[in-house]
Amino acid sequence: MTPGILDPGSVSRRAYLKSAVAAGGSVGLAACVDRFDSNGGLEDVPQGDPETVPSRQHAWNEFLPTDDHGNVRPPRHHVLGYVDLADGVDPEETQEPFADALADLEQAFEWSNEGLLFTVGYSPSYFDRFDADLPDAVDLPAPESLSDLEEPELDRTDLLIHLASDRPDAVIEAEEALVGDAETANGQEVTDVTDLLERVDRRTGFVGAGLPQENRDVSGVPDDAPIPEEAPLFMGFMNGFREAQASEDRVTIEEGPFEGATTEHVSTIEFQLRDWWHQENHFQRVAKMFSPTHADDDLVGEHGERFDSDPRVAEVAEDVLETASQRGVVGHAQKAASARVDGEPILLRRDFDSTDDDRAGLHFLSLQREIADFVRVREAITGAALADETSVGRRVNNGILQYFFVRRRANALVPPRPLRSFPRPDP
Ligand code: HEM
Repeated sequence: MTPGILDPGSVSRRAYLKSAVAAGGSVGLAACVDRFDSNGGLEDVPQGDPETVPSRQHAWNEFLPTDDHGNVRPPRHHVLGYVDLADGVDPEETQEPFADALADLEQAFEWSNEGLLFTVGYSPSYFDRFDADLPDAVDLPAPESLSDLEEPELDRTDLLIHLASDRPDAVIEAEEALVGDAETANGQEVTDVTDLLERVDRRTGFVGAGLPQENRDVSGVPDDAPIPEEAPLFMGFMNGFREAQASEDRVTIEEGPFEGATTEHVSTIEFQLRDWWHQENHFQRVAKMFSPTHADDDLVGEHGERFDSDPRVAEVAEDVLETASQRGVVGHAQKAASARVDGEPILLRRDFDSTDDDRAGLHFLSLQREIADFVRVREAITGAALADETSVGRRVNNGILQYFFVRRRANALVPPRPLRSFPRPDP
């Protein structure tokens, strides 16, 4: 059996396909090979039409399913491609073939969770090669450490490509056609740009009911952790409720040549969930994830099923310091919601769990109008003043900070679609 790929006889079909995404490449594709239709396309994966794809690359929500309460359900499988422009290649010479390759992907896959959704982002390092500066309306600093509790590596590749689909074989095929060896994706030819690009790193993950259960056999998750089957993430609670997410409009840059763009931040996070699942009981987990009030009043249920579309953190967000002083513990979502602006969330979170390197983790991918918005929320979560002024520790009892560790950070600009192929900073 190929290393990295589970034996299909020993695990469910879905877990088998997930392991294929983590392995990627021809090995991952080989694991999906029986899913081709007679035309060389992937069975039941619809093809698309570039003419119908919206102008904002991050316009995904209306092409995704919603649950009974109107909460958007993200695609289940994800690949992040960290890619450089190959040595000596001029970005302006690359514009046309790369634009063609991306349009080919839109032809190959319907713009939806059943086909493929993707964004192409450009890092501050990419823009550094030009003499011109980005316009004032674009806030794109280099990534940096955001608290003295972390020493992340700072990602500096030129491009950050996010591929997402409910179909694991769709994300692998798209990735291989763009930056790997494949000439086609979903039965369609894709313009060859492999000489122009160099894949430096790839990270993968999944989000959705059942997937944490099926992928739990990695370090960081105790064997007997009672992760509910319905939970989309390893920590056992639903996330992404409508009222706790910024809208796509709220995260869009509204002026200047990059009107219609957004900024993207990715924190690569490692989990240590032994204490989360062993030393904590459900009451404590609810208090730390949401707030002590949520635990007292039993607002959450087992995994968040009592919330409909609102995790009801707006009220408790006003009392973060008071909660920390009186209870000695404060909630993650409670702190995060204290950074809302005019009562509205400012981050559109599209994060997903990961088993890269056989470790449990999470790729915290968020979109916001300015990177400063992300920094604002992250400072609320770090809660430095809480540790100074109350008995809450810098990590302990301070939301969920005890259980996750930031290993890498990346920032990127996700331009509007007409500028998504190797833009100049002054287009
Ligand atoms: C490390 C793993 C993390 C997990 C498992 C997690 C989980 C959650 C959950 C369950 C909620 C409440 C429900 C909802 O999403 O609608 C929430 C809210 C939120 N989280 Fe996290 N989170 C994590 C990390 C982070 C990080 C690193 C940030 C940003 C720096 C962040 C920012 C937010 C924000 C902005 C909200 C919404 C607050 C509001 O209602 O305004 N989270 N998170």
